[in-house]
Amino acid sequence: MKFFIDTANLKMIQEAQDLGILDGVTTNPSLMAKEGISGEKNIIDHYKKICEIVDGDVSAEVISTNFEGMIEEGEALAELHSNIVVKVPIIKDGIKAIKYFSDKGIKTNCTLIFSAGQALLAAKAGATYVSPFIGRLDDVSTDGMDLIAQIRGIYDNYLFETEILAASVRHPIHIIQCAEIGADVMTGPLSAITALLNHPLTDIGLAKFLSDFKKVNG
Ligand code: G3P
Repeated sequence: MKFFIDTANLKMIQEAQDLGILDGVTTNPSLMAKEGISGEKNIIDHYKKICEIVDGDVSAEVISTNFEGMIEEGEALAELHSNIVVKVPIIKDGIKAIKYFSDKGIKTNCTLIFSAGQALLAAKAGATYVSPFIGRLDDVSTDGMDLIAQIRGIYDNYLFETEILAASVRHPIHIIQCAEIGADVMTGPLSAITALLNHPLTDIGLAKFLSDFKKVNG
């Protein structure tokens, strides 16, 4: 299972990278805005900085909602760095754009997936990744994990190569359940990733090992 971090914060990306388990980064316009990144040049520079930290796929989202605009933006983003994956929303022109990028060998991440039908269309268009938003489904009392399982089943039925990138991950249980179902990738905040480390018995056990060592070694 690949681990992506879902942030545009360079310090957090570096921290996850330093752990040695990071496979990529996902960003979106909200996450870029959260870091105060605005203006074309600053946005481009920021994506380049992320690509210099991580040796893996970095999703950069288009803002346009029409085919021509998405193509123009996506091609410019893809030229920034070989790590860039063009992130495109699941709308009619988005599907056309994904097909266009896919035919040109440009990697894509189809975002804002909330149904199996959307995921099926994205795979048909040749998306590299499809991003179902688990947490946002949970927010509206719908089990996001059911969608991951449904998409896994459909993709396996037809051997689609599109990777399921479980997004809007909020906590470690999401990550574990995604791994159980067989999501190819998860993207979440650093806090959800590092929370996988936590277990009180580990803390108690380590404290005991160290105190026993001190008893005989001073
Ligand atoms: O990867 C999608 C993600 O950024 C959305 O997460 O927590 O805003 O629902 P969230």
